[in-house]
Amino acid sequence: MIPLNVNARAVTVEAAPDTPLLWVLREHLGLTGTKYGCGVASCGACTVHLDGEAVRSCAIAVGDVGARAVTTIEGLPGGAQNPLVRAWVAVQTPQCGYCQTGQIMQAATLLARSPRPSREEILDHMQGNLCRCATYNQVVDAIQHAAREA
Ligand code: FES
Ligand code: FES
Repeated sequence: MIPLNVNARAVTVEAAPDTPLLWVLREHLGLTGTKYGCGVASCGACTVHLDGEAVRSCAIAVGDVGARAVTTIEGLPGGAQNPLVRAWVAVQTPQCGYCQTGQIMQAATLLARSPRPSREEILDHMQGNLCRCATYNQVVDAIQHAAREA
C-alpha cells in the first residue's frame, strides 16, 4: 500500500511502486481530468502539481511521490471559479479539449510566481504543453485574461 496526499486528501493505493502516478490518479482514484497523451514526458497532457510544481505525471513513479502534495485539475483552488478556468471559458480556449487540463495546470504554476507575465514569459513557460488542435494563441489570451481578472 502506498500512502499519498492527493487534492488535500490522504489516500492509500495498492500499486507497484514503479507504476506511473498518472495511472494511479486515473485508474485507482478515478481522477480522469488528468490525461494520457504521450507517456514519455513530451506533451504535457498529464501535468499535475507536486508541492506546487508542475510535473509530468506519466514520468513519475508513484513510489517516488512520498509526502509531496499532489494536485490535479479536480483540486485546483476554486474549482470552476478559479481565475484560469473562468478565463478559459471567457476566451473559449479549448477545441477538442484533450490537452487543456494539462495546459491549465501548467499555467497555474506560472501565475503563482508571476502574476502579470509577459507574452514571452507565457510562451516560454507553456512551450512544453502541446496541442494538436493548435489552440496556442487562445492559451496565451486566456492566461493574460486570468492575470488581468485575478
Ligand atoms: S502523457 Fe505525460 S507528458 Fe505526455
Ligand atoms: S484542444 Fe485539442 S489537443 Fe488541445
